[in-house]
Amino acid sequence: MLIRCSASKIMIICHSTAAFIRSNIWKKAFHFSAAMAKSKFEYVRLFEVDDRCLPNTWVVVRVDGKGFHKFSTEHGYEKPNDIKALSLMNRAATSVMEEFKDICLAYGQSDEYSFVFRKETQAYSRRSAKLSTNVCSLFTSAFVYYWNEYFPTIKPRYPPVFDGRTVLYPSNQNIRDYLSWRQADCHINNLYNTTFWALILKGGLTPTEAENKLKGTLSGDKNEILFSQFAINYNTEPEMLRKGTVLVRRKVPVALPNGGTREKSQIVQEHVDIIGDEFWNTNTHLLTLT
Ligand code: GTP
Ligand code: MG
Repeated sequence: MLIRCSASKIMIICHSTAAFIRSNIWKKAFHFSAAMAKSKFEYVRLFEVDDRCLPNTWVVVRVDGKGFHKFSTEHGYEKPNDIKALSLMNRAATSVMEEFKDICLAYGQSDEYSFVFRKETQAYSRRSAKLSTNVCSLFTSAFVYYWNEYFPTIKPRYPPVFDGRTVLYPSNQNIRDYLSWRQADCHINNLYNTTFWALILKGGLTPTEAENKLKGTLSGDKNEILFSQFAINYNTEPEMLRKGTVLVRRKVPVALPNGGTREKSQIVQEHVDIIGDEFWNTNTHLLTLT
């Protein structure tokens, strides 16, 4: 016996028709109309709220590692920055951009990544939870999937967790300010961490002593400590650490088997300033509707 409930696409195949009809289960579970059968439980769908993002606004999904202070320690991340760990983050983010073509730019630093969807995206009908959960889930699984390529000698001690959220930004200035905020955060934290760990690892201070020494210092003071005490010119530190990573699609030439090249869109990593105007003036397509 076959009962089709077109609304919920439930299909019940019962081999023993007589037994099924005799039982009261089906009477309790379904109300039949002439046109179709509907479960009496269907009303609970009304409890689901419509969480579609406002049209014509920038949609940002940000993922952030849960308790990565502990995760980084437990997995022996180098201090203050572990290039392998940051590269794994970039690899996981690239997987997300490969899957979601409407992401025009991503920005990552430390244990977080922000994904910017085109203003006019119709991905998942712009449903907020669908966007954040799919991005976050793919990012997390890619992080685990590629773990071994970056940490071949370290087995994950427990499953890493990332949270995810969707935030909307109505104007181009807002989305630029959002990205500037994240990059400024990268700069402030990295300068602090670089100085903090230099004082401990090279200067022999305890964490408390290093913390006290840095209390109330401005960025110029930290630059000075790095330069005068440890001969470190902060401005020549690797750009990935100072600026974070921007992922964008660029047309790059690829070699053809019979010679010659053709242009192919690829996701590329750039470690550039996105606070000033230069990046946006040379990438005007990113902020214009397609
Ligand atoms: P929640 O996000 O609130 O769950 O806390 P969290 O512990 O993840 O801290 P938060 O996201 O504010 O900061 C990320 C933390 O990850 C940093 O404070 C570092 O402890 C750690 N972390 C991220 N990248 C690196 C790295 O390259 N090296 C090391 N040693 N630690 C890192
Ligand atoms: Mg975190």
